[in-house]
Amino acid sequence: MAVTAGTKALDARAIRADFPIFEQLIHGKPLAYLDSANSSQKPRQVLDAMTEFYSTSYANVHRAVHVLGERATAGLEGAREKVRRMLNAPDVREIIFVRNATEALNLVAYSWGGNNLGPGDAVVVTELEHHSNFVPWQYIANRRGAEFRMLPLDDNGDVDLSGLDAIARECNVKVVATNLVSNSLGTISDIAPLVRWAHEQGAIFVCDAAQAAPHLAVDVQALDCDFLAVSGHKMCGPSGIGALWGRSEILQSMEPFLLGGHMINSVRYEKTTWGELPHKFEAGTAPIVEAFGLGAAIDYLNGVGLDAIEAHEHELAAYALGRMSEVPGITLYGPPAERRAGVVSFNMDGIHPHDVAQILDMQGVAIRAGHHCCQPLMRKLGVAATNRASFYLYTVPEEIDQLVDGLYAVRKVFA
Ligand SMILES: Cc1ncc(COP(=O)(O)O)c(C=O)c1O
Repeated sequence: MAVTAGTKALDARAIRADFPIFEQLIHGKPLAYLDSANSSQKPRQVLDAMTEFYSTSYANVHRAVHVLGERATAGLEGAREKVRRMLNAPDVREIIFVRNATEALNLVAYSWGGNNLGPGDAVVVTELEHHSNFVPWQYIANRRGAEFRMLPLDDNGDVDLSGLDAIARECNVKVVATNLVSNSLGTISDIAPLVRWAHEQGAIFVCDAAQAAPHLAVDVQALDCDFLAVSGHKMCGPSGIGALWGRSEILQSMEPFLLGGHMINSVRYEKTTWGELPHKFEAGTAPIVEAFGLGAAIDYLNGVGLDAIEAHEHELAAYALGRMSEVPGITLYGPPAERRAGVVSFNMDGIHPHDVAQILDMQGVAIRAGHHCCQPLMRKLGVAATNRASFYLYTVPEEIDQLVDGLYAVRKVFA
């Protein structure tokens, strides 16, 4: 599928050749990997960058004066600068490496929420959140005696903002935390009104961009958020690394999250003082090789172009929604294709999602079945679980055809 709509064309078939995972058969069938919202596959460029670093330059960072230590440090800091550019963050010291988006969000919940929330205050999230942007806030609000409020979804599946005035009257809103792209429904949310409202309340706005950053251009200055979290493994990078961006003045005012080596300025028996940003929040040995991989992944995505990736996913989503709606007894969830990333959640009448996913696996089709770490949303949809097919820059329409053929095979098994 070539994408031409006002943006550089994306040749998914050529891109696919960069991903060694597709050079195999699964159960004798070509692999249709439709689970990228869960975790993305890795191009050779990322694998090679990591292998080469291990083979030629591996050492710990920031601690050695030898050549290898300097190469490692330059690579890690180079990756930090690539993340800064990708997110259009004003200052590279605002980029903190963490294990994943979950850790990034916990860092903000514990270090900011743990010291700034109290009785009468409120944290506001939405019904569309991944547990990673829900549970830490629920926990820290409860622990600090603050209110935890959830904005419900309306009948169109969009966040209902009609209750904001009531929340503002009842409590002192200190945190608003939402995603930009939903992992369950693929919804691309317009968060601008919520960011404005948060700031009118004097609250911080925390953006979970774990699902957005892989699929569209994310600009922290344009979003005007205060914190933003991403995971490397969802954007062609390795697992074990993610990043938190935060406004430097807020980060500077915060207590550290994890304590130990590397994050200190001085340690005395009487008192320990903290290092400068970003080191204050990076205790222990960094994810060094993972940073090399993440840097290579960002180069790769930039080479393709995030606008082209977004357009490609809209086309795939439209194609999938059209083809899948022909399958008898299917329920499709989520917004129209133009407002969603490459994610389609669905259920087959009377067939458990795990059965669907297992039969599809026998056809070489990998999808996810479950609650997608979105139990509040599942409750809203009135289901325990859904199936989810998700697409990325290497997805081709034939994989969606393979999925649809597989769904007919599922129907036959349960006929
Ligand atoms: C929207 C969203 N937020 C947060 C996360 C958590 O990401 P990780 O498991 O990499 O911490 C995910 C992962 O699926 C996600 O989709």
